[in-house]
Amino acid sequence: MNAPPAANTYRPAEEALIERDIAAYLEAHGRKSLLRFITCGSVDDGKSTLIGRLLYDTAMIFEDQLAALASDSRKVGTQGQNLDFALLVDGLSAEREQGITIDVAYRFFTTEKRKFIVADTPGHEQFTRNMVTGASTADLAVLLIDARRGVLTQTRRHAFLANLVGVRHFVLAVNKMDLVGHDQAVFDAIVADFDAFRRQIGIPGFTAIPMAALTGANIVRRADEMPWYQGPALLEHLEQVPVEPASAAGFRLPVQWVNRPNLDFRGFTGTITAGRIRPGDAVRITPGGATSRVARIVTFDGDREEAGAGEAITLTLADEVDCSRGSVIAAADAPPELADQFEATIVWMADEALVPGRSYWLKTGAVTVPASLAAPKYAIDVNTMEHLAAKSLELNHIGVATVTTHRAIPFAPYAEDRALGGFILIDRDSNATVGAGTLHFALRRSQNVHWQALDITRDAHAANMGQRPKLLWFTGLSGAGKSTIANLVEKRLHALGHKTFLLDGDNVRHGLNKDLGFTEADRIENIRRVGEVAKLMTDAGLVVLTAFISPFRAERRMVREMLTDGEFIEIFVDTPLSVAEDRDVKGLYKKARAGQLKNFTGIDSPYEAPETAEIHIDTTAMTPEAAAALIVDRLLPELRR
Ligand code: ADX
Repeated sequence: MNAPPAANTYRPAEEALIERDIAAYLEAHGRKSLLRFITCGSVDDGKSTLIGRLLYDTAMIFEDQLAALASDSRKVGTQGQNLDFALLVDGLSAEREQGITIDVAYRFFTTEKRKFIVADTPGHEQFTRNMVTGASTADLAVLLIDARRGVLTQTRRHAFLANLVGVRHFVLAVNKMDLVGHDQAVFDAIVADFDAFRRQIGIPGFTAIPMAALTGANIVRRADEMPWYQGPALLEHLEQVPVEPASAAGFRLPVQWVNRPNLDFRGFTGTITAGRIRPGDAVRITPGGATSRVARIVTFDGDREEAGAGEAITLTLADEVDCSRGSVIAAADAPPELADQFEATIVWMADEALVPGRSYWLKTGAVTVPASLAAPKYAIDVNTMEHLAAKSLELNHIGVATVTTHRAIPFAPYAEDRALGGFILIDRDSNATVGAGTLHFALRRSQNVHWQALDITRDAHAANMGQRPKLLWFTGLSGAGKSTIANLVEKRLHALGHKTFLLDGDNVRHGLNKDLGFTEADRIENIRRVGEVAKLMTDAGLVVLTAFISPFRAERRMVREMLTDGEFIEIFVDTPLSVAEDRDVKGLYKKARAGQLKNFTGIDSPYEAPETAEIHIDTTAMTPEAAAALIVDRLLPELRR
């Protein structure tokens, strides 16, 4: 076979651009429908040969048209309209800088009947994240099987993941039939094997095709070698398979950003994820619940009378309503729900295991919010579908867990809306994508537990206390001097008439947190609870001091985010390990060195020093009294009302 010609290859980070190119292409050639599919399997299964065949034998690659379109749509800034489309393109670049390092190549080809986009992903197990990314926008998955090897763990895994991310059509492509003498019995056995598995995981049906990518049998044209097979060749099937709209839900547009080039124009830009819209249609905005009507549908090519799922548009509304980036504009009678706690299935994609309780970025629809996951309810064995007990999720593990977002977000179950129900998790320090998942439903708690508005507000409390509340968060190694300095600071503030309270690690661990030890998960929970208590105390108007090792940056940041701006003052009590160990006031370093104390901070458990502490105390350069004086001097002006 000749080498397949180079097709258009896009990197997924440009997905938003692809969406736009597709929308533009369909606009121009509206008659042909589009099928997005993914091929799952490894190079050994003949995947590249198969894709090469499809591209080459159809010989209708429209790379030129597509390139032209892409450049057209990037010239829009010069159209002399009110809209600053350059801004639009810039917005997309910002999306692209999310730090999502996923390797998926998208190839485009077309036949007389239909247009195709095939997501080609590396097939090894460690590339689960690529596969999930490619599948999340696909209508159909081709599961490639080597006839000599049959259904493998990897096949099951891919079928499970594709089904999880909402792929509706499956093709079992039993390849290399030439190497098993085109034997129907081999084919039938593989089909029966897969049939049993797909029933277990709830895939409604599939089409099995025996083929030989190397000779081209049953790829583009039906083959003579297997007269016992009466069905269509792969391409025929791909051309016929019905592509229903992504969901039955009404119109939905997650707002990517608000386009406001001048005072007369306020447009809401994004890609329609479901349904259709026309000027005059009634819409409702979530959150907030404001209602209005669509005034204009603005696109690169001017105003439109109608637009539908998959198209990138800018809407203007008849009324000045509350709507910002991350809001969802939906058909007035079908708004998404709003919730902050969900059950979800998660595929973990990072080398470092999930840390329950830790804050990650959760990105869904157009919203990115801090979120944390509870310890998984269970992990899933993809071979047997058994539920396994799990405390965390490791690379490539799949599990079900409760997800809590920092604030309520618009959402829909994934089964109903891929855009609002699907999410990725991003590490807040490295910016790498560490997981992907699907939201099943909002937990009832989040719907039924409401915030009770109280008449005596936190400001009223603070006024009564005659001060501005603060949280002075002391962090540092065990024996660094946190408690000593915090104690001196409290004494001084108290003497000056301030209303204070000191929460000390050792003390809190005798009561509220006596059920917690020193594992990573327990320390995270320790800090979470202390953060919540400290927050309540600031609500009551107090100046709160806390002395906890609090070794992880992520949790210190979590507490910072619980409070209002400027209220959290991080104080790094900086004592080198060697000095703390020399002092060893409680004799704990000695025990830790002797191996009698596990997970000791600085010895066999890490301490992540603050990078941006408000106050830095070098205890080797000053006495505790001097440190306390420095802190109080710095704070007093901020405590005054
Ligand atoms: S934190 O890491 O969860 O913030 P916290 O400040 O509450 O720790 O408790 C630290 C105190 O617990 C130390 O000052 C020490 O007295 C005691 N301790 C007992 N075991 C450990 C350990 N493995 N690591 C650190 N501190 C320990």
